[in-house]
Amino acid sequence: MSEQNKLWRITLDTNPEDCNLHCIMCEEHSLYSDFKQKLFETTGVKFRRMKFEIVERIFDEAAKLGVKEIIPSTMGEPLLYKDIERIFELSQKHNIKINLTTNGTFPKKSVEEWAKIIIPNTTDIKISWNGATTETSERIMTGSNFQMALENTKKLIVLRNAHFEKTGYFCRITFQLTFMQNNMHELADIVKLAAEIGVDRVKGHHLWTHFAEIENLSMKATKESVAKWNEYVKQAYEAQEKYCKPNGEKALLENILPLSDNEKTEVPESYECPFLEKELWISATGKVSPCCAPDNLRQSLGDFGNVETTTIQEVLASPIYRKLVENYKNVELCKTCNMRKPLC
Ligand SMILES: C[S@@+](CC[C@H](N)C(=O)[O-])C[C@H]1O[C@@H](n2cnc3c(N)ncnc32)[C@H](O)[C@@H]1O
Ligand code: SF4
Ligand code: SF4
Repeated sequence: MSEQNKLWRITLDTNPEDCNLHCIMCEEHSLYSDFKQKLFETTGVKFRRMKFEIVERIFDEAAKLGVKEIIPSTMGEPLLYKDIERIFELSQKHNIKINLTTNGTFPKKSVEEWAKIIIPNTTDIKISWNGATTETSERIMTGSNFQMALENTKKLIVLRNAHFEKTGYFCRITFQLTFMQNNMHELADIVKLAAEIGVDRVKGHHLWTHFAEIENLSMKATKESVAKWNEYVKQAYEAQEKYCKPNGEKALLENILPLSDNEKTEVPESYECPFLEKELWISATGKVSPCCAPDNLRQSLGDFGNVETTTIQEVLASPIYRKLVENYKNVELCKTCNMRKPLC
């Protein structure tokens, strides 16, 4: 199979500096973060926003390469990108679906208006979810309103179900968690809540500890926290068995897997990178990256060029990219990477 056939998804960091929340763990928007200040000091730029011509060009090339999905912004809130509606238009034009991660606030429009734009063109709406209670959730997603996010999600599910009944097109709705010591005691209750309201999937990632203030929140921090996580995983699968969605199906659980004691240092050799050759990330300024590891860390993987001056196909065929694909298990960052998974 040629490289371009394997590439199925591209993430565009359309508007990383735009957000209406300050989640404690967020690389850019946490109140612990000095990222935006440093960005301004070093570049003189306050807000990086992808030019719409670049978005258009990427959609064009992606369509030719057979890419199936585009993700708008995994840093910042995608629904705040000024041309987000035009992205959904491009999705329709090129028949490339959108895969959305959003913070549940549905800014500037009603959920009903967003649903009309999003649901027909989107494979999966991941709503970032960090607790089963107001207290836990709002302590993590600073500035959020748990009850409002819950009401928004319930409305979205009703509208998604209506769209499915009318057209047969199914847009999955997912709770996207960040696994931390201050929210995972509620993991089983999150699974229960998901099932009760008809969320199709609960998935997440372990914490990237961007700041000293959150280092002790990683589930991988100590032997004790690893043991606790493994207990929460068991409880999550028990909740999955016990509580069904209104249609009688179980919510899917993904990436909710037991850890071993030494995971803080090295990931088992057999775990694979889920992204290389299959996905690419393009920053607001056009810089291409092979994955979504935190900005400062992924720079250590090399310079993969800029879509202002190179094509996606050229990046995939470049010696630096090919070398990473062949050799990533020996690269320091990849050895301890949270995102590597056992091959299913
Ligand atoms: C950075 S956000 C961007 C999209 C949108 N603003 C949102 O929160 O849904 C993408 C996802 O990364 C998660 N996230 C944020 N900081 C993280 C960290 N330090 N480690 C792991 N996941 C993190 C968020 O909770 C969210 O689910
Ligand atoms: S909503 Fe997303 S981008 Fe905004 S602070 Fe939270 S994690 Fe960061
Ligand atoms: S750090 Fe390495 S292993 Fe992890 S996602 Fe990036 S390329 Fe893959």
